[in-house]
Amino acid sequence: MTRRLFVPRDAGARAVGADRVAAALEAEARRLGQAVEIVRTGSRGLFWLEPMIEVETPAGRIAFGPVTPRDVPELMAADFSAGHRLHLGRPEGLPFLKRQTRITFARCGIVDPLSLADYRSHGGWRGLERAKSLGAAKTIEEVTGSGLRGRGGAGFPTGVKWKTVADTVADRKYIVCNADEGDSGTYADRMIMEGDPFLLIEGMAIAGFAVGATRGYVYIRSEYPDAVRTMERAIALAEADGLLGPDAKFDIEVRVGAGAYVCGEETSLLDSLEGRRGQVRAKPPLPAHKGLFGKPTVVNNAISLATAPAILADGADAYAALGFGRSRGTMPIQLAGNVRYAGLFEAPFGLSLGELVEEIGGGTRSGRPIRAVQAGGPLGAYFPRRLFDTPYDYEAYAELDGLIGHGGLVVFDDTVDMAHQARFALEFCALESCGKCTPCRLGSVRGMETMDRIIRGERRDANLALIEDLCQTLKFGSLCALGGFTPYPVMSAIKHFPEDFDRPRLAAAAAD
Ligand SMILES: Cc1cc2nc3c(=O)[nH]c(=O)nc-3n(C[C@H](O)[C@H](O)[C@H](O)COP(=O)(O)O)c2cc1C
Ligand code: SF4
Repeated sequence: MTRRLFVPRDAGARAVGADRVAAALEAEARRLGQAVEIVRTGSRGLFWLEPMIEVETPAGRIAFGPVTPRDVPELMAADFSAGHRLHLGRPEGLPFLKRQTRITFARCGIVDPLSLADYRSHGGWRGLERAKSLGAAKTIEEVTGSGLRGRGGAGFPTGVKWKTVADTVADRKYIVCNADEGDSGTYADRMIMEGDPFLLIEGMAIAGFAVGATRGYVYIRSEYPDAVRTMERAIALAEADGLLGPDAKFDIEVRVGAGAYVCGEETSLLDSLEGRRGQVRAKPPLPAHKGLFGKPTVVNNAISLATAPAILADGADAYAALGFGRSRGTMPIQLAGNVRYAGLFEAPFGLSLGELVEEIGGGTRSGRPIRAVQAGGPLGAYFPRRLFDTPYDYEAYAELDGLIGHGGLVVFDDTVDMAHQARFALEFCALESCGKCTPCRLGSVRGMETMDRIIRGERRDANLALIEDLCQTLKFGSLCALGGFTPYPVMSAIKHFPEDFDRPRLAAAAAD
């Protein structure tokens, strides 16, 4: 009997040795004369257990992890028995997976990402087929009715965006998938591209059908070589099968960006796609009216597009039934930084921040108390423990001058120095600025210098007032959110952790 083993080929799993584990499994099977079939899957997103391998048994798949090549002979000699120290049991039974509601990531880690047969047998193409049977206008109504908001950061209703493009008259329209994923601690786009690329292809095809676009681009940063390879192979397979190309009246091309944070901003991304240096364009015109090559363009985040198939397949109501307030459906929350159980947790909106980082994330990896959590990437606010009751919801976070962004949560323990984190935000803005407007280009540099003075204890109060003034200018004088949101990390650090901005004086007072 051939034994089926599942080993992830996600970049996260490969980084900690998944390829070597797969090779060791093959070599050991050969040595023992056993027949094995190794299926390379995506990751289930339990990164602290990677490489997590699974074995097919009559009772379903059983997981073991984290596995090293050295564990392989012992594992095979024990015939993957339940008594082995790396035995984890059924993956679905692991608390981290059991508590999730997997809609967008339902197939991730289960299927071979490059098997069209796997994709179809796990419900693939049902969304596109239903969209075609409903027609373009009703497809857009479904997406609107689902309450789906853009998962790239701004949370704009996806259905409204699609309708704007559909209603704009033009000879050509485009679908652009924003897979630049520049936010700190985020990897949902990468995981979906490496673990379930046909889902993104199906989502883009649905968007194309809905708005009348015949061509799509996936914009991926060069730091994601595995995602680029997997998407390119998946597109070629879909083309060979007639699911993309002339018969399907939709084709897709992958474009690789150099990896500037600002190229994730939609207009800058369009400049980059057109072959220019990525610089932010003034809006209006909106990309929905005048986007790529001057044509109406849907620019959506990879997860927004990858959510469309489930919405169409199971209906808007099923998706809208999940969530909290105006934040409908599920969000792939990515736990990162100093956290014990780092991984991707897909759940309906509404979980409290404390539940997410302390219960689900298991607290810090260092074992020290959590002091701060930065939500929503490098431009997101730092939240202290006293805000851990905040529900995960676009409006609740905005009310606290924060962001959900692309769903990243970066955890810090009590050794963090928040004055240095505030300086880091200004440095990030200076490094990543596209240079088009003065507050962002120059203000960020002056901000860093001022923060250095505060850290040294020079004229603290006057310099803090200067930082606040500068943040107001950044917020209201910047053309895009790179400069406009830099005040979030800076001001939240000052507001919630004021003692870190007064260290030299406090140290002197303590010495007296
Ligand atoms: C500086 C900056 C960087 C951004 N980076 C990304 C990114 O990496 N990925 C992304 O999807 N959206 C990013 N955005 C948001 C995009 O401009 C845009 O709102 C989004 O791609 C729209 O898709 P959605 O409606 O599906 O979220 C960024 C915005 C700014 C201002
Ligand atoms: S805020 Fe910064 S990144 Fe945005 S347009 Fe202005 S200079 Fe460019």
